[in-house]
Amino acid sequence: MTEDRIDVLISQAEIDTRLTEMAAEIDRDHTTSDTLICVGVLKGSLFFLADLVRRLRVPVEIDFAQVSSYRGSVRGRLEVKRRPEIDFGDRPVLLVEDIIDSGYSVAAVIDVLTEHGARSVDVCTLLDKVPAREIDVPIRYTGFEIADAFVVGYGLDLAERFRNLPYVGVIQEEEG
Ligand code: IMP
Ligand code: MG
Repeated sequence: MTEDRIDVLISQAEIDTRLTEMAAEIDRDHTTSDTLICVGVLKGSLFFLADLVRRLRVPVEIDFAQVSSYRGSVRGRLEVKRRPEIDFGDRPVLLVEDIIDSGYSVAAVIDVLTEHGARSVDVCTLLDKVPAREIDVPIRYTGFEIADAFVVGYGLDLAERFRNLPYVGVIQEEEG
């Protein structure tokens, strides 16, 4: 699998423009003197989190969480691989995710953050694969809604590759 088999779905320029809009919206919604705790879901949210928080004017604290699905296990059962470290102190948390597909991962992360002491959890996702949703999850900020196709780049991987592409791309269908 090489990069020439990947078509640009969302360009770097489109991502830049949308992130500026999203950051403005988040700033508008957080005008209190409280800092905003931003928790990125590893590893896919790496670039999204970095580029988003640099556009925010509200003071932020940054932490990470990670979950993964057990191979061959029941759908929706996820293993918690990393919990946040900073003290949430009953403050609101912004959960920053790369993509919401079935919804199971983000639901598991919401539980982790709630157990860790978040007063509330607002979900902020770069991509929402709407047609793939299997369970209802509340999303406060969405970058782009996309169709049910496998995407890579800007943090998203195919077997750990292509995370570093500066755009979101879709893998071309096999021919013949
Ligand atoms: P969900 O639990 O089905 O919502 O899956 C969400 C997780 O699966 C995301 O955080 C990604 O890590 C991964 N994922 C889902 N769709 C894609 C995709 O199209 N490309 C790369 N990773 C994906
Ligand atoms: Mg992910």
